[in-house]
Amino acid sequence: MRTIIEPFRIQSVYPVRMTTREERERTVRDAGFNLFRVPARDVIVDLLTDSGTGAMSAQQWAAVMRGDESYAGSDSFYRFEAAVRDIYGFRHVIPTHQGRAAERILFQTVCRPGHVVPNNTHFDTTRANIEHVGAEAVDLPCAESRDLGVPRPFKGNMDLDALGTLLSERGQDVPLVMITITNNSGGGQPVSMANIRGASEICRRHGIPFYIDACRFAENAWFIRHNEVGYEQQSYLEIAREMFSYADGCTMSAKKDGLANIGGFLATNDDELARHEEELLILTEGFPTYGGMAGRDLDAIAVGLREVLEPDYLEYRIASTRYLGRFIADEGVPIVEPPGGHAIYIDAAAFCPHIPPLELPGISLAVELYREAGIRSVEIGTVMFGGTDAAGTPTPAPHELVRLAIPRRTYTQSHIDYVVEATLEVFARREAMRGYRIVEAPTALRHFTARFEPA
Ligand code: F0G
Repeated sequence: MRTIIEPFRIQSVYPVRMTTREERERTVRDAGFNLFRVPARDVIVDLLTDSGTGAMSAQQWAAVMRGDESYAGSDSFYRFEAAVRDIYGFRHVIPTHQGRAAERILFQTVCRPGHVVPNNTHFDTTRANIEHVGAEAVDLPCAESRDLGVPRPFKGNMDLDALGTLLSERGQDVPLVMITITNNSGGGQPVSMANIRGASEICRRHGIPFYIDACRFAENAWFIRHNEVGYEQQSYLEIAREMFSYADGCTMSAKKDGLANIGGFLATNDDELARHEEELLILTEGFPTYGGMAGRDLDAIAVGLREVLEPDYLEYRIASTRYLGRFIADEGVPIVEPPGGHAIYIDAAAFCPHIPPLELPGISLAVELYREAGIRSVEIGTVMFGGTDAAGTPTPAPHELVRLAIPRRTYTQSHIDYVVEATLEVFARREAMRGYRIVEAPTALRHFTARFEPA
């Protein structure tokens, strides 16, 4: 069969409330045209994030009921640890309440002012946690990633020449190197095994630990199996094990490829480092056998980590994201090519070239999709990454993107068809779209709370 169907039946549902265009006009105006401020009940298809928003399986809910809530040494922890060790292979597994807590503990332990941490592209919490301890976060994306509309199989790769140069010049200031799979901030693009291996070899040569930001490791494994020579016959588990075999540790948000609603972990093979990290963990997250989680969360993740590597699941997951991306792109909508694993990124600057970057084309497009059909997306452009120069003049971000992130196992193909129809409808009348300006914003992380008005 050519039709790839959702590999599950729906046994429990959450109602979606249909709204009218008039209601949505009012809602978005009251929210200061910022979709983060819109209550979820006023959203029809919520593509704000794929983080913690997915559906758990019957097996995961069964595991939740089995959760052992002992403070120390719960059965749930041992099941969680066994699942993580089996896939990732690291000796020390340190549970945290979500990915950024793992990042905070890692960077507070290894970084100090003057340090530099390279990554293919840092996710915003990763960058913020590095900067919070006075170190510098450097992005080294491969050259191909700059051409948004040009499809290449592994645009998430790191620029290994730039990494080699950086480590030769400033190796003594680099406490670790990180690679993010898939590269979320870089358009959800995958990283090849060759690139992971190459980055690892460069780090080993310089005696610097190599880490993986593993949030979407299973989706990355799918792309390696299907697009990298030599992996066609390997299972996703074998590919995942090989990816992690090149690393000294990882950070993980179980809210993505852990198929859970909350949770994460930090892992390492370094005994001494693990001891320091556990001291910090106890201070702010919890005892080392639960971190910031309940026993039932640990059990849900233990099951989720196995389900996420099932071929039927991964096939459907990548196919549904690709379906959305191909459909709108083939009708002319400019997207980051090729479609990534967890999201489609529309190039808002190319979608409405008559709106200059400082008039926030990404906000304009996100607001239109909401008005048109109650779809919530997120701007990844000047509001999120723009700033001001020394003279106080606003500066644009390098790209104006709108991300449509797809929660796991949550929406059906008809929901996606609805998103396609709405996107094409907005595209057809894009010339009537207008820009926005910021009327109120905090200095840091302004995208969450800013208010806008039509320019
Ligand atoms: N690393 C990457 C690559 C991420 O995408 C995220 C979260 C994190 C780390 C932090 O994990 O949320 O569990 O603390 N990304 C979400 C998103 C929020 O919408 O892309 P967390």
